[in-house]
Amino acid sequence: MNPRPVDRRTFVRLAGGAIAAGGVGWLTDVGPHGSPPSVSAAAARGTVTRYPLFIPPIVSPAGLTLTAQPSTIDLGGGTSNAWTYNGSMPGPTIMAHSGDLATIQLVNGLPEETITHWHGMLVDEFNDGHPRFAIVPGGTYTYQFPVQQRAALNWYHPHPHMLTGEQVNLGLAGAFVVRDDEEAALGLPTGPYEVPLVVRDATLNRSGNLQYKPTSGGFDGKLPLVNGIRNPFLSVDTTLYRFRILNGSNARIYRLTIGNAFPMMLLGNDGGLLETPIMVTQIDVAPAERLDVIVDFSGLTVGDRVMLRDLRAGWDLLEFRVATSVTTAGTVPASLSTITKLLMADVATTRDFSFDGMSKINGQSYDMNRIDFSVPFDQTELWRFHTNGNAPHPVHVHGASFQVQSRRGGRGMLFPWEAGWKDTVLLEDGESVEVLIRFSAYRGQYLLHCHKLEHEDMGMMANFEVI
Ligand code: C2O
Ligand code: CU
Ligand code: CU
Repeated sequence: MNPRPVDRRTFVRLAGGAIAAGGVGWLTDVGPHGSPPSVSAAAARGTVTRYPLFIPPIVSPAGLTLTAQPSTIDLGGGTSNAWTYNGSMPGPTIMAHSGDLATIQLVNGLPEETITHWHGMLVDEFNDGHPRFAIVPGGTYTYQFPVQQRAALNWYHPHPHMLTGEQVNLGLAGAFVVRDDEEAALGLPTGPYEVPLVVRDATLNRSGNLQYKPTSGGFDGKLPLVNGIRNPFLSVDTTLYRFRILNGSNARIYRLTIGNAFPMMLLGNDGGLLETPIMVTQIDVAPAERLDVIVDFSGLTVGDRVMLRDLRAGWDLLEFRVATSVTTAGTVPASLSTITKLLMADVATTRDFSFDGMSKINGQSYDMNRIDFSVPFDQTELWRFHTNGNAPHPVHVHGASFQVQSRRGGRGMLFPWEAGWKDTVLLEDGESVEVLIRFSAYRGQYLLHCHKLEHEDMGMMANFEVI
């Protein structure tokens, strides 16, 4: 291990190098400094009124009370009824350090049952927000768990049986950031230079209120929200920014790009840092997947504008407005972390999961009281996820992270953002994806499900037990 800082010049060279390597599907041409922001496009968009990006308040997990409640929130240019944690959409960003003890009281101020799941957090079954622990209106649930895992962007959202899609769509979701010493030693951008971006879609009714209109194919919102804001902008300095991105949508997949293929340095994903940064110009992100991305605005000048876009829907997501020129040169080490590889040679059991139709796994719909399979504790297994149709299915496992090994059929390849540790992996039509997984944290009951929330609510979910 020889962490070597990457200065701006190297950053740009890495960008150029990655592009020069060529022949790689997700990379598109950029100039030596990345393409300049598309000024003409920005001018054409001049009539769109933009609103400042909302940054949710940061809270500690120690002694936290989270109240799920009906609220009125500001979407930018209008208010909406929403269901929120503590009045904020997204909910407060929980900021923890590995080694902390989380003590969180959930209060149900909703007119229906709820329970909160800490997506990506390694917790015992009583703290995992399993639907069998849903609490009635007016009820409370007390969580207490040690934070014992590597630095990563995790998140929290409701998980009541058949009501998850509605509750997330109406606003209940927030970021849960875990820090550790390894990450701190890297000196990555922080403070105002580290920004959470919760990207989702939404539909507003005639009165401008969030409206949940699911279909069996998945909720398909009419407009994007970033941190709950419609048409947001963020004023930036001419330096490096670290964006912690969560796809908080019920069903929508985004293909993120900045400007006209501006370089992004991918640092990490669901389970934390990758071994080394990699330059990309587009990233696909499915529901519940997370990204850790560095963007370098130092080549831009005050007054420049550049857009975070979704190439799938053709949506503008967030406009970066270069507002201040600074001289602080940010750096990113060339080496980020060490990933201990799970090994195919250690596989004790292979399991096949077929994601059938829109509501079944291996032919069965979810039954809260049925345990579908048992997994021995601390043993490496190969899990193979298949689908024949009705995909995409973003497949998610509770209780452990996994390492993606291969994808056959469909897109037929793995992508840079699928390296390292993951807890959600995208299964497109005709695809089979293999992952290695090992449950080394706790014994107990966990869930495997499709994170397209409409599929989850219709029953594309299974209980299993780590024994
Ligand atoms: Cu993010 Cu079981 O869910
Ligand atoms: Cu989860
Ligand atoms: Cu699905």
